[in-house]
Amino acid sequence: MSSTPGASSHVAVFPGSFDPLTSGHVDIIERGCAIFDRVIVAVLINQDKTPLFTVQERVAMIKDVFQGRPNVEVDTFDGLLVEYARRKRAHALIRGLRAVSDFEYEFQMALMNRRLNHDLETVFLMPAEQFTYTSSRLIKEVFKLGGEVGGLVPSVVEERLRQKQATQRDRLAGARQI
Ligand code: PNS
Repeated sequence: MSSTPGASSHVAVFPGSFDPLTSGHVDIIERGCAIFDRVIVAVLINQDKTPLFTVQERVAMIKDVFQGRPNVEVDTFDGLLVEYARRKRAHALIRGLRAVSDFEYEFQMALMNRRLNHDLETVFLMPAEQFTYTSSRLIKEVFKLGGEVGGLVPSVVEERLRQKQATQRDRLAGARQI
């Protein structure tokens, strides 16, 4: 949605855990940028989960991937997503839909969010076919077990996965020596 002079710009929030950002997420953000004037990638601060990367690390990776892209903003949020979207004056939420298996959860969330804020639409975008089986959870599992994830995550993320693994290995080795 390109803005015409005088018209307000159209903003969308793309919320998620992004632990870590995958090439599928990048694909969705690119598609969102083709529709909206600004896409806010909003990383959930979730106290309940035990993530691989801290929120700060995740934000830094996403900023790295989208540096030099003024229409992509990276932020964090907690509490209700609809309240965050309201504060950011967003017109829509973006969610990626990879397969039928995503549908039920996404459908429930979209309808609950609509109930909470009638003016906020959820827009579902499909990633390129090669990313339909990609998820942050699978990436972490495959990488941890020594599998190849090249191309499924941005190179910055692959590098950070390697560093994280090395740090964890060192920590484990240190603990064994005690
Ligand atoms: O990447 P994820 O983990 O599938 O993203 C889930 C997310 C962050 C979109 C969802 O958990 C969320 O919106 N959390 C914020 C709290 C909230 O508003 N919950 C009600 C959603 S219907």
